[in-house]
Amino acid sequence: MRVAMIGAGYVGLVSGACFAEFGVDVCVVDTEVSKVEALREGRIPIYEPGLDKLVEENVRDGRLTFTTKLEEAMEGADAVFLAVGTPSRRGDGHADLSYVFAAAEQVARAAKGPLVLVTKSTVPVGTGRKIKAVLDETRPGHEIVVASNPEFLREGSAIGDFMRPDRVVIGAESDRAFQVLRRLYRPLYLIETPIVQTGLETAELIKYAANAFLAVKITFINQMADLCERAGADVHDVARGMGLDGRIGRKFLHAGPGYGGSCFPKDTLALARTAQELGAPVTIVEQTIAANDARKEQMADRVIAALGGSVAGKTVAVLGLTFKPETDDMRDAPSLVVVPRLAAAGATIRAFDPQSAHARQLLPANTVFAEGALEAVEGADALVLLTEWNEFRALSPKRIKAAMKGDVVLDLRNAWDPEAFRECGFRYSSIGR
Ligand code: UDX
Repeated sequence: MRVAMIGAGYVGLVSGACFAEFGVDVCVVDTEVSKVEALREGRIPIYEPGLDKLVEENVRDGRLTFTTKLEEAMEGADAVFLAVGTPSRRGDGHADLSYVFAAAEQVARAAKGPLVLVTKSTVPVGTGRKIKAVLDETRPGHEIVVASNPEFLREGSAIGDFMRPDRVVIGAESDRAFQVLRRLYRPLYLIETPIVQTGLETAELIKYAANAFLAVKITFINQMADLCERAGADVHDVARGMGLDGRIGRKFLHAGPGYGGSCFPKDTLALARTAQELGAPVTIVEQTIAANDARKEQMADRVIAALGGSVAGKTVAVLGLTFKPETDDMRDAPSLVVVPRLAAAGATIRAFDPQSAHARQLLPANTVFAEGALEAVEGADALVLLTEWNEFRALSPKRIKAAMKGDVVLDLRNAWDPEAFRECGFRYSSIGR
């Protein structure tokens, strides 16, 4: 089989490389010339564990190619995947679908024979039908059918999520679309992956419902953590005690500084807007968005309070800047709120993240970037753990103490052992414990 993947972004690259690994011939097309050139030379524009190796092997075996020309990518393709960006539109929070419709129109013009056009990009409910209208308008009487096949990839473990998914969702209205997609995912039958075969609108909504539910779940445990602090309870045990109930489940009950990333903030907002427009508001999601935004600011206020009400003239070491470990993605990372707020309150920030390339461009210019965790804490009055990279878990509190000037530690990911830090003389606080 052969597919064209439109968009060499995160979703397009991971999905393209994984389909190639399944034995499919994949051509990834992107308009950015420098990106395509880099990929052809084996340079991957994003950091995702295992992706470089997967791309390299499949390029070598001739199953994965890159181009800037759509016609070339679509040559002989059974399916064309749309994996272009759907950023939040400025002002109203709606997903910006201009790239999706533009790509659909180009596909309609370039198509030579029967084709399945599949949206992998996260698009609001109703978009598949609008894509159909674009196809009808551009090429009346064409043989292109539309399908929705949302991704559920977590950054940092995207390859595993693609290769061993909990389920595959396929939304379509034609047998041909179901057949082509089922054939593409055939290797997953061996591991008995459930396939949810449904209509276009339902598939589109499943993606938003799943992400919004997870965002609500995280926000719930974050608020429980605040309650635990007031009530003298331990949120870890609350999460465990709740999560062992099979109806609730243990995952995504880890309290922290608020969720970030490329999906939850954008998708919750888009779902809330769509639901309002359709006259069925999901107020629980609206409240989740507001609570999560406020939480990031509250995290900065916690630091200020821990330093006695003012950070003016103080040095704060921040470990972890990306929205989660094993990624270089800074989108909606708590650090983007916490660091500027502390800097504006007069603190000097000494920061370290194992993947700080993007952070350097996004954080205030006077942020000091250290080359390692111990260098970051050197002379600091307070230490804030914002992202739980594994290398931070192993840090010795003794060595941190020796390097720091002050004794304040805020572990906003509950990654460290409170006793070990307190024994070293730290005033240690964490989330909900
Ligand atoms: C998410 C979804 O998991 C994935 O299915 C979807 O396709 C894209 O969005 P991702 O954004 O990569 O994936 O990261 P995820 O691991 O889900 O974490 C999202 C955010 O929630 C991070 O900021 C993380 O720190 C936070 N989080 C997650 C918590 O605060 N607590 C948790 O228990 C889990």
